[in-house]
Amino acid sequence: MFVKSAKFYDALYHFKDYKKASERLTEIISNFNPGAVSILDTACGTGKHIEILKSRYECEGLDINKELLDIACQRCPGIVFHESDMTEFNLRKEFDVVTCLFSSIAYVKTYENLVKAVATMADHLKENGLLIIEPWFSKETYFVNTITANHYDEKDMKIAWMYNSIMKDEMSVLDIHYLAGTPEGVIHFNELHELGLFDDAQYRKAMTDAGLEVHYDKEGLFGRGMYIGINNL
Ligand SMILES: C[S@@+](CC[C@H](N)C(=O)[O-])C[C@H]1O[C@@H](n2cnc3c(N)ncnc32)[C@H](O)[C@@H]1O
Repeated sequence: MFVKSAKFYDALYHFKDYKKASERLTEIISNFNPGAVSILDTACGTGKHIEILKSRYECEGLDINKELLDIACQRCPGIVFHESDMTEFNLRKEFDVVTCLFSSIAYVKTYENLVKAVATMADHLKENGLLIIEPWFSKETYFVNTITANHYDEKDMKIAWMYNSIMKDEMSVLDIHYLAGTPEGVIHFNELHELGLFDDAQYRKAMTDAGLEVHYDKEGLFGRGMYIGINNL
């Protein structure tokens, strides 16, 4: 996923207010761990949160997708980015905060992988460090058999993208079709995005099993809620 769409990623998600989200994240971090200085942003994508957070924290990023990381490196010169799978990485380093934002956690697909990812992230926390996860939908809240369309419309780039929301094998499956135009021409491609539909109990269990005290913020950064795990058990 995101391989073909990487160069369009920032345009596709132009509606997302990263500045506002990063300010809210900073507020949450200050409430739970006022002395925090370092952040590892896992599944960091094109580095848009890090671009803002780096003025206040020592940041590193991690993502599985090289194409997105190339954009992140250009956006945030001097920042260390790791090309790695969030379910199994070892940076031999601990951070005050590890984040996994914008529902990226659901790309691990299975509960077994959720447990692995959360345990791996928790292993990279200092004492009293925070693991901050923005979840995806659960089976109960997911919207099925709908059609969603989004548009991006700038002078030199126009994109229309749409997908049906389907539930299959306990996952949400989005076969996203993109029509992207620049002055050089118009291309069409599609990407299959499969995301695990974990429920509240599963997120909480994965976090407590990883030795974290779990807190929940109903709103989160993007209206999808947020889990905050403190490494103090
Ligand atoms: C919806 S994007 C969010 C990116 C970024 N956090 C943001 O807010 O813009 C999901 C991200 O998860 C990454 N991802 C998916 N599976 C991953 C995995 N197993 N390990 C690390 N990153 C992964 C993708 O490459 C992509 O960057």
